[in-house]
Amino acid sequence: MAARALLPAVLLLGLLLGRAGSSPPPEPVVCARGMSDCTVTNAYGSFPDRTICRAANATFPRTEGELVDAVAAAAAMKRKLKVATRHSHSFPKLACPGGREGTIISTERLNRTVSVDAAKGLMTVESGMVLRDLIHAAAHAGLALPHSPYWYGLTIGGLLATGAHGSSLWGKGSAVHEYVVGMRIVTPAPASQGFAVVRELGHKHPDLDAAKVSLGVLGVVSQVTLQLQPMFKRSVTFVERDDSDFAAQVAVWGDRHEFGDMTWLPRQAKVIYREDGRVDVSSPGNGLNNYLGFRSNPTLGLIIARAAEERLEEDGDDIARCLAALVPAATFRLQGYGFTNDGSFFTGYPLVGYQHRIQASGTCINGKEDGLLSSCPWDPRIRSFFFYNSGFSVALSKAPALVADMQRLRDLNPRALCGLDAKMGVLVRYVRASSAYLGKVEDSVDFDITYYRSYTEGTPRVHSDVIDELEQLALRKYNAVPHWGKNRNFAFDGAIAKYAKAGEFLKVKERYDPDGIFSSEWSDQVLGIKGSPNIVQKGCAMEGHCICSDESHCAPDQGYFCRPGKVYAEARICSLQPASGNTHTDHQDEL
Ligand SMILES: Cc1cc2nc3c(=O)[nH]c(=O)nc-3n(C[C@H](O)[C@H](O)[C@H](O)COP(=O)(O)OP(=O)(O)OC[C@H]3O[C@@H](n4cnc5c(N)ncnc54)[C@H](O)[C@@H]3O)c2cc1C
Ligand SMILES: *[C@@H]1O[C@H](CO)[C@@H](O)[C@H](O)[C@H]1NC(C)=O
Ligand SMILES: *[C@@H]1O[C@H](CO)[C@@H](O)[C@H](O)[C@H]1NC(C)=O
Repeated sequence: MAARALLPAVLLLGLLLGRAGSSPPPEPVVCARGMSDCTVTNAYGSFPDRTICRAANATFPRTEGELVDAVAAAAAMKRKLKVATRHSHSFPKLACPGGREGTIISTERLNRTVSVDAAKGLMTVESGMVLRDLIHAAAHAGLALPHSPYWYGLTIGGLLATGAHGSSLWGKGSAVHEYVVGMRIVTPAPASQGFAVVRELGHKHPDLDAAKVSLGVLGVVSQVTLQLQPMFKRSVTFVERDDSDFAAQVAVWGDRHEFGDMTWLPRQAKVIYREDGRVDVSSPGNGLNNYLGFRSNPTLGLIIARAAEERLEEDGDDIARCLAALVPAATFRLQGYGFTNDGSFFTGYPLVGYQHRIQASGTCINGKEDGLLSSCPWDPRIRSFFFYNSGFSVALSKAPALVADMQRLRDLNPRALCGLDAKMGVLVRYVRASSAYLGKVEDSVDFDITYYRSYTEGTPRVHSDVIDELEQLALRKYNAVPHWGKNRNFAFDGAIAKYAKAGEFLKVKERYDPDGIFSSEWSDQVLGIKGSPNIVQKGCAMEGHCICSDESHCAPDQGYFCRPGKVYAEARICSLQPASGNTHTDHQDEL
């Protein structure tokens, strides 16, 4: 979950002024001439490797028929195709078609409810429907999507494609794809069938396990049918404790609370436990989640806050940075993280409310265009917050050991992790094993971090070595899998080998799209078909394009050298060599 925290000055300004409007996020697909000569980007205006993605054409179908025509037109000419969504919130360049001659199909206008069967709890929607609208349409019929990501600016097609989730170990768990019971997907077809067909995948169809989490490489999902539940209420309480038993708690918290999660503030050595479960619908309370980090903010405040962040990063010292890092958690705590008991005021815990008002938020996408006076905190049209977001899941059985190692790393230099505290720490959530081929192989614990990113490529980040070690620790020592819609390039290197059913997935892909028109360089690299997601070149490890194996992958001229990790000796991280250290080498290396 990105940008969970903002500097409080912005928040306060936001609370005072931010009610009037909010410019919705920019359109990710921009064409120079009509519907041709296009670029596609994500909601942050920048992919992790800063690639600019081009396509020859873009189309915005309004019906399944138009969608079939668009796929057929590209398939007939064997042109590359890719789906873009209303806001395109994935970090990696999943939305880029291969080459420059491809076509973008935007699902922006495919956003209707197709049917609702309230008695059976079934709802069918078009794939471009935004999660916010889906949740509300379901609620209107007395139904609830039991689990979802916490941010509702995503589309159902996009969030399924990357395996997005909330937090739960109960029942089928927190991944939205567990609640999919049908899909209609448009794939290329032979000329005899008009170059494109709609495949209807019912509940028992074996291909559904490929299509549910598809990274967008099987075809264009046209419609999704979800198994919903009768509307329910839940009760949320945040409890903060020291982190001495965090490793033990991570093993049990997911069993205790249906929607439980944890937020670790490493520098403060605190864990914010989310006690969150169902209560009887007759329980009083009309709570609302309007998470502080997902609200609209005045542009001026965002620019000031980012400038302050850049100054601290570049010229500050650890003491100043760590002092500043105390403020977000304090502000969020004081304001109930943006939850209110009745839609207006936060008066204390527990917060009781209907599922559709609690499960997700994102009011910064809701406003009327206000000429960019205010916007989401990461709006790329202004110099606002710019960050990386990494998410990785480890098997539940390994989570306590990973947490213990992360705490050991923290203990070596707690101040090095103030940058995480400043972004509201490490969000820890639960996801269950899935039958989806690219879903979680085992019951898992997902760790999610957000951290500073410079607007200038290659600029060293303060204490980047510790964050890099933490990521390698999870991905390599504990065999974590990266979230398909987050992370920097290096995290995907070798990831596909961790999926036992990847071979099954590739067989379906071969059947659905034998010419690979939905494949791109990136999807081929990530799926292990061709090439590596790493970009091995000078300085590559400074931006997470690679793991360093040579000094030149760091920035020796700026004092950064490739070194082993401090807790995980097999890690290779770019470390700042002390200026006085001339030819000193770190002898922990050889341990
Ligand atoms: C603020 C924020 C908070 C977040 N919180 C969470 C969270 O709580 N939990 C979580 O798991 N994730 C979270 N995410 C990550 C998010 O779930 C993923 O990045 C998600 O995939 C984005 O959905 P999107 O609709 O923007 O899709 P995009 O990023 O536009 O698309 C993702 C992929 O799906 C493909 N695709 C989209 N629609 C279709 C279709 N109809 N048919 C075929 N392919 C398609 C695209 O081509 C692309 O390959 C968060 C992201 C942000 C920015
Ligand atoms: C696609 O783009 C090309 C060149 O950019 C243009 O010649 C062509 O007419 C476009 N096709 C459609 C269907 O818009
Ligand atoms: C679909 O998108 C349009 C354009 O943004 C919007 O006005 C409409 O409310 C959306 N429809 C639904 C059902 O959410």
